[in-house]
Amino acid sequence: MSPVSNQQIPKDRYTSKEYLRAEAERLWPQVWQVAGLSCDLTSEGSYFTFDVTSESVLVVRHEGGVRAFHNVCSHRGRRLCDPGRGQAKSFQCPYHGWTYTTGGKLARVTDPDAFPEDLDVEALGLKAVACEEWAGFVWVNLNAQAPSLEEYLGPVRAQIDAYRLGDFALVEDLTLDMPCNWKVCVDAFNEVYHLSSVHPEILGVVDDINVRTELLGIHGKLVVPFYVPSPRLRDRQKVDESLQWMLKEAGVPPLDGATSALDVHKKVRHSIRSRERAGELDCSGLSDEQLSESHHFHVFPNFQIDMYAMKALTLRARPHATDPGRMLVDQQRFDRIPRDISRPPRPAHKGFRYGKGSLGTVTDQDMFNLVRVQRGMSSSGFETLVIGAQEQLIGHLHRGLDTYIAE
Ligand code: FES
Ligand SMILES: [Fe+2]
Repeated sequence: MSPVSNQQIPKDRYTSKEYLRAEAERLWPQVWQVAGLSCDLTSEGSYFTFDVTSESVLVVRHEGGVRAFHNVCSHRGRRLCDPGRGQAKSFQCPYHGWTYTTGGKLARVTDPDAFPEDLDVEALGLKAVACEEWAGFVWVNLNAQAPSLEEYLGPVRAQIDAYRLGDFALVEDLTLDMPCNWKVCVDAFNEVYHLSSVHPEILGVVDDINVRTELLGIHGKLVVPFYVPSPRLRDRQKVDESLQWMLKEAGVPPLDGATSALDVHKKVRHSIRSRERAGELDCSGLSDEQLSESHHFHVFPNFQIDMYAMKALTLRARPHATDPGRMLVDQQRFDRIPRDISRPPRPAHKGFRYGKGSLGTVTDQDMFNLVRVQRGMSSSGFETLVIGAQEQLIGHLHRGLDTYIAE
């Protein structure tokens, strides 16, 4: 598998079964991945499953901590738990009834006399997977010898901690089954170069030109100024409908008619600091600039989190086991909950196939596009992706992949 050049990426990385297999063998078993949310493991025995490629992991709250196991029965290999969340006192395999504790021990073998007396029950417990909680997420690594999550995340960890994600609550939880490679999806959210073509109606709220890219070890970040009209617009004074809507969403009092759109970001910062002084919020870890910017983190290889002062959005791209042109993308939205407001109930998870539901107008525009990117890539008239300066994170992802996959 040849390493990627600085500006050109072979398309087979997105279309070939060979590269998908190389990822399954050398990448996914080695990296830390978000398996789910800590808030879904409220009490002893709360659990959820996490599926990626042909692997499935069972994550469970146990003795105040969190444990993760390969989701497979040690008897004849049946998948132990179906996908989803739940509450268990123990895990019983539906095939022959072997039963495991929430700590993963094999507690009961049906008709034990049918097996040799020296059956090694201890060795037949569920196989452990490395597991850590951080920032409200449960992370797993299939490699038991993996470096710690802290080491893996490097500088990303402190930068996200500054937002105090514990003050946020989940408000939307969606999964979309998409006909494209998982990297087609990651790439689209790792650049804003496409904004003026794919999302022209949001140019009134985002400066897509003065975007800063930072490489954070194998991970990366885009810093995108929001509440500022794009320099591509002829009239940058006008407060358009999208900007009005965003201000309302951020809880900023209505503007007087004379306010220029170029001053709106200052109003947003001022409003958040006022609410902070009133004891409603704690954004003390954030600079004034951050209050009106999006810090978009790409956590290698497949997790992205857009941090804003008042909200966050995560995307997790999961490859299909055998089809390089298929993936699942999980989108979760979080709101910062002011101190005197009670947290909303957990929203129900919704899953659907592409074309059968919506992830919101802007993300739908992306998905419409991505399906066509995957189709285009299969053309014999296309061989390599050409990467520009605004798409650095895409090249960076591939260099990261090379550290796991290239020989
Ligand atoms: S496969 Fe699980 S009890 Fe037989
Ligand atoms: Fe987009």
